[in-house]
Amino acid sequence: MTTKIIGTGHYVPERIVTNDDLAMIMDTSDEWIAERTGIRQRRIDTGEGVVSMALKASKNALENAGITADMLDMIIVATSTADDLFPNTASLVQRELGNHQCVCFDLSAACSGFLYALNTAHAYIKAGMAKTVLIIGSECLSKTMDWTDRSTSILFGDGAGAVIVTEAETGIESVVAHSDGRKGEVIICDGRPLENFLVKKNVTYAYTQMDGQEVFRFAVKTVPECIHELLDQAKIGVEDVDYFILHQANERIIRSVSKRLRVPLERFPMNLHNYGNTSAASIPILLDECNRNGLFVPGHKIVLSGFGAGLTWGAALLTW
Ligand code: UT7
Repeated sequence: MTTKIIGTGHYVPERIVTNDDLAMIMDTSDEWIAERTGIRQRRIDTGEGVVSMALKASKNALENAGITADMLDMIIVATSTADDLFPNTASLVQRELGNHQCVCFDLSAACSGFLYALNTAHAYIKAGMAKTVLIIGSECLSKTMDWTDRSTSILFGDGAGAVIVTEAETGIESVVAHSDGRKGEVIICDGRPLENFLVKKNVTYAYTQMDGQEVFRFAVKTVPECIHELLDQAKIGVEDVDYFILHQANERIIRSVSKRLRVPLERFPMNLHNYGNTSAASIPILLDECNRNGLFVPGHKIVLSGFGAGLTWGAALLTW
């Protein structure tokens, strides 16, 4: 018995912000951003929030799976940009979906969040503790950006992706997940600072800070290693994999992974040119687009792989 994806959905805010739009508020250009990252535009939230985006992606996924919300045993939301500290995003999505029994929690693993959530759902299903789980990646990165920092803010976008998984005979074949906190400082966003009756501070908001080159080096090394580990576990080779759905951070990272694995770039679908890096939402958004475009057929072998702050990284192999 394993875990199968039976439905996918996504939602992105309506407001499109192009590279040329960004060049009007900072010293950058479409040429620089497109050449260094592959990104041409991103969606930016103008007031909707992480719960609302998660809910819309979830409704699409439920419809795609042909099931109703009352059939869910669990909702997991991967996010680092929740609207509130509590209640958690998953409970707020549950409230709107009208299922008032299932277990709901959020999971924080930055851009690897969706993969960690998929692993968690898989573990619950294998343990017989859940049958059908809604997994969502929903992020509003734009609120964590310093929009005067051209080296980081141009990369990210807002959006949500969701999948429904359930127990089945075929589906996930192997999973790997890793974390290494020693280099955590290369991508950080401080939380709410301590301020109480003992400690008085002038509270200021913190923004995402990143050492782009360190993150780049980390990604191009760990993603291929982790995919090899995953495929060795499943006793198959890269040539047996039909598609690699990687976290959509930078086209140059994906090109480098394709080269290191010696797999043609055509087997790496991409949508980062449209959405930028949507962190935990990037893999489920891409999965949904590929699913709805009819790219996957039953029996296809698909690798998912993500990396991000923590540092965290992981991969999953599934049969569609
Ligand atoms: O989910 C994980 C999220 N993080 C990532 O995926 C980040 C991975 N890293 C990257 O994608 C790349 O490192 C970046 C796209 C962030 C930066 O690309 P780079 O090729 O490493 O550029 P760089 O930082 O070496 O900067 C080269 C030059 C610098 O100018 P000087 O010092 O050579 O004069 C920067 O100041 O480009 C300049 N620069 C820009 N110029 C125009 C940096 N950002 C910009 C910009 N527009 N937006």
